[in-house]
Amino acid sequence: MIEIFAISNVLLQDFLFNKSFQKNGNDLALLLHNIQFLVHTEDAVKERYCGTEMGKLKNIEHAYLLIDKDKIADFGTFSTARLDELKVQFPGLETIDVGGGSVFPAWCDAHTHIVYAGSREKEFVDRINGLSYQEIAARGGGILNSAARLRQAGETELLESATARLNEVIRMGTGAIEIKSGYGLDEESELKMLRVIRELDRISAVTIKATFLGAHAVPTEYKNDKAGYIRLLTDRLLPRIAEEQLADYCDVFCENGYFTKTETLQILETAQKLGLRTKVHAEQLSHSGGIEAGVATNSISVDHLEYISDNDIELLRNSGTMPVFLPGAQLFLGLPSPPARKMIEAGLPVAICSDFNPGSCPSGNMNQMVSLACILYKMTPAEAIMAATTNSAYAMELSNNLGSIAVGKKANLFITAPLPSPDYLPYYFGVNPVKRMMLSGVFIN
Ligand code: NIG
Ligand code: FE
Repeated sequence: MIEIFAISNVLLQDFLFNKSFQKNGNDLALLLHNIQFLVHTEDAVKERYCGTEMGKLKNIEHAYLLIDKDKIADFGTFSTARLDELKVQFPGLETIDVGGGSVFPAWCDAHTHIVYAGSREKEFVDRINGLSYQEIAARGGGILNSAARLRQAGETELLESATARLNEVIRMGTGAIEIKSGYGLDEESELKMLRVIRELDRISAVTIKATFLGAHAVPTEYKNDKAGYIRLLTDRLLPRIAEEQLADYCDVFCENGYFTKTETLQILETAQKLGLRTKVHAEQLSHSGGIEAGVATNSISVDHLEYISDNDIELLRNSGTMPVFLPGAQLFLGLPSPPARKMIEAGLPVAICSDFNPGSCPSGNMNQMVSLACILYKMTPAEAIMAATTNSAYAMELSNNLGSIAVGKKANLFITAPLPSPDYLPYYFGVNPVKRMMLSGVFIN
């Protein structure tokens, strides 16, 4: 832990938005005006949007947006703004002309693994040359490759590299993020990862949720004793993590060659008894029962879903569990698309996240994920934007405070250059549309 404070000044300076500085946002209220499209506004906050509701974004044209300290205080059509009254109500009100740009709620990314050491471009080339993700893993690559490197890395080094990644995604519009452990796979290294995630949360202005993913793979030293590794997770690590409040959630990679449905249930149920809510990496490479385990344990989300079945869709329809797609990982590994349209037509909510990690998706660009959801899944831009805001906030239990433009919600948002329509954002793919980013009511340089 001592090491952590040695983080270079350069990186800390990059983090102009230290939480203690930012807690109350600006002293003076801010009025953003000349907004061409104010995207995804809500008069009444909804915690998630299901089925056809997903496509009904409420955008306001020629809008204004009032921010008081760190919160959204008012918004509407500019011609209806009662400026004189607002100036009396908010003395010293600062007005900012956003030049006909559009304002979007910041992206919420409920699935990442941004604390890692080293990189895995060699495996990327191996896959290009014909090996599969599973074949690479069987040769000691994959998650175990990242684990070997992470175990060697100090907390300062991990914090610095994760801070750089976090800053990168903030600049691309991410305002809330979930970060998983799962490259330590032993007691010391898993706790090290979770401490780094907690430290990131302390020093940055984004909202961060921490997830314990000890059940990401079976480490080499337990190769012939999987039950022993699961006991380490359930009897030792989970109680310690719960006691020290090092994680908000517990996740399991339920997959052929990783953890079975029965093992997944055992780990999730132990976590729940200790007060941690759960998530599942489900049906990514094969149908392995992750959704069944996730729904049975009332998990907040089940993520990936390339091999989801009709029965799974039925189970999800009667649950509070959010189905999460990770189109970047699917594209990067060349996996089939999950049946997004069928799921939305069945009345399900869906979320879109990045899965930013060194093996299956070395990108945390949520703009790109939204574009991919449109291109690969035939989701409309409105549905994809909803999936990457309110519904992904729901997958971190944050949708009451983040994920839309609503009075009382935290002012986490970004401003784009002038756009012909909000649909232009996913259409004009591969660039960063974010011109200015605001977290808790404060602009980031
Ligand atoms: O979400 N599926 C399992 N875990 C990650 C990949 C991790 C890795 O390859 O390092 C994922 O895709
Ligand atoms: Fe993942």
